[in-house]
Amino acid sequence: MSLNSFGHVFRVTTWGESHGPALGAVVDGCPPGVALAEDWIQPFMDRRRPGTSKNTTQRQEADRVRILSGVFEGRTTGTPIMLMIENTDQRSKDYGEIAQAFRPGHADIAYHQKYGIRDYRGGGRSSARETAARVAAGAVAQAVLRDLVPGLQVLSYMVQMGEMRLDPARFDEAAIAANPFFLPDAGAAQAWEDYLTGIRKAQNSVGAAVEVLIRGCPPGLGAPVYGKLDTELAAAMMSINAVKGVEIGEGMHAAALTGTENADEIRMGPDGPEYLSNHAGGILGGISTGQDIVVRFSVKPTSSILTPRRTINAAGEEIELITKGRHDPCVGIRAVPVAEAMAACVILDQLLLDRAQTGGQRGRIG
Ligand SMILES: Cc1cc2nc3c(=O)[nH]c(=O)nc-3n(C[C@H](O)[C@H](O)[C@H](O)COP(=O)(O)O)c2cc1C
Repeated sequence: MSLNSFGHVFRVTTWGESHGPALGAVVDGCPPGVALAEDWIQPFMDRRRPGTSKNTTQRQEADRVRILSGVFEGRTTGTPIMLMIENTDQRSKDYGEIAQAFRPGHADIAYHQKYGIRDYRGGGRSSARETAARVAAGAVAQAVLRDLVPGLQVLSYMVQMGEMRLDPARFDEAAIAANPFFLPDAGAAQAWEDYLTGIRKAQNSVGAAVEVLIRGCPPGLGAPVYGKLDTELAAAMMSINAVKGVEIGEGMHAAALTGTENADEIRMGPDGPEYLSNHAGGILGGISTGQDIVVRFSVKPTSSILTPRRTINAAGEEIELITKGRHDPCVGIRAVPVAEAMAACVILDQLLLDRAQTGGQRGRIG
């Protein structure tokens, strides 16, 4: 299985499976001299960790990260950083049935057809357990960004879960960390919880949409043609398990707008250009403008559900399958910190690329 790496200068490779002894990431190209400790990474891991509420999988993992290389006396050395997370709560017997059967909507059949062999336990490499490694790598990126661009902030939250939608007028950033849905509306969290409880009790699952907001990103990141910042961010989000659609700014809704509605008019402010709106989502010509970067994506409903679904097995027989095991009733919840991590890795990678190409010089206005 090739292509387990992403990024150009800040390059992340993840390794490991759901029910192996451990999984992790190798981060290559991290600048030297950055303060980095396991304690810095842990809070990022805790936000993605399973088993923290009844709204997520009940698998219990501490997700303690160990830094095995690339850090000396509390600072990065510029050599590869090896991050390891042990798997401690595997329950492989839950997956006996899918050793020979293919869950509809999951990766089982595609892995079987491509490789002819798969670690079916917990979904093996296709399990979103892999995203723990991304979050660890994202925490390293955040440590570098903290030094290089102190004002930069990557924020992520849920905007939809099935029939439930965030009312943008009620957006409250402070609420995001204070409810199990990463929902920026404290008043709506109970209704979301009741809705998901209903879905779970009906032995079903539900899809979701997540938004990532990058504030304080300097202008000039990205390249105009094949390395558009939009492309890089969309690829990073699309690489997250279960993601089926990605939008930047107005996204698909741009199809309904006219040019007058969509133009982000520009004025000269005291500190440089100011935009009167942000339909573009902070990126023009593949390059960041300095406005907020807005990325949204949808995830499909969890395919592992307790309601019987028609499928086939490896012998080609038609069967009905109930997927046991511990599963997220809505994968969108734990996708929130994963998206934040991916965005942090992309922005840092683009920042380092931009320095390499332009040395950080900028066109002057005014
Ligand atoms: C954070 C997160 C948690 C997930 N949890 C589960 C889960 O508990 N059960 C499951 O069947 N799929 C889960 N998924 C989705 C599968 O990993 C994904 O559907 C599978 O790898 C097939 O890939 P695809 O959906 O991108 O085609 C999760 C995804 C994410 C992002």
